[in-house]
Amino acid sequence: MRKRVPVMAGNWKMYKSVAETVEYFEKFRPLVAEATHCEIVIAPPFPSLQVAVEMTRGTPIRIGAQNLHWQEQGAYTGEVCGSMLKACGCTHVIIGHSERRQYFGETDETVNGRLKAALASGLVPIVCVGERLEQREAGQTEAVLIEQLEGGLAGLTPAEFSPILIAYEPVWAIGTGRTATPEIAVEAHRVIRERAARRFGPLPAEYLRILYGGSVKPDNIKGLMARPEIDGVLVGGASLDAGSMASIVNF
Ligand code: PGA
Repeated sequence: MRKRVPVMAGNWKMYKSVAETVEYFEKFRPLVAEATHCEIVIAPPFPSLQVAVEMTRGTPIRIGAQNLHWQEQGAYTGEVCGSMLKACGCTHVIIGHSERRQYFGETDETVNGRLKAALASGLVPIVCVGERLEQREAGQTEAVLIEQLEGGLAGLTPAEFSPILIAYEPVWAIGTGRTATPEIAVEAHRVIRERAARRFGPLPAEYLRILYGGSVKPDNIKGLMARPEIDGVLVGGASLDAGSMASIVNF
């Protein structure tokens, strides 16, 4: 029996128009109608959020955004703030994805700002951490995770920390077809939970849900979810197909 309810989340990245979003949820909704064992979150691109919220109203599917700005409003061309996402019906937001760290200058400091903004807007943040291949090969995985957690979660109280979801996403496993073994994921999750306990106390750490992300597919989901340390997944490529995402949800 699991202590923590799993979260099965899909990150569409820069894929799917409004019309494709409608088509997806028409297919996806009946496939996950019986899924009461977990929480389901789908994160479409900004222009599809509204229609995704409408298409999933009255279902257990929750909608998340892929980013938000740390300011509440202002002259920040091209940015979107937490209250806009909340008003549009989003419940979750992904923060600090490795693609944002790699290509868009995301740092632990900006992750921290976005995280506080998400909490202030009442959104559940999904904070991503994970090491690059060369960092793993140099034996730096634990240090990298600790640094990302310390920086990303700086200044939070245990009460502020408690709704947060953390996604462990080793960069070398994202979009590469090279999934981390359940053992590698479990070891990283242990490091994250230990650090959370040290920073926020044993209880918030015990209830923290840590997702694994990186080439999660219908054929490796069972092995990952067999481990009680893995509290769900953040799925990229395989979430784009309603059928594969549904088989992941219904692991
Ligand atoms: P992937 O992406 O499942 O395509 O590897 C995971 C992610 O980027 O969250």
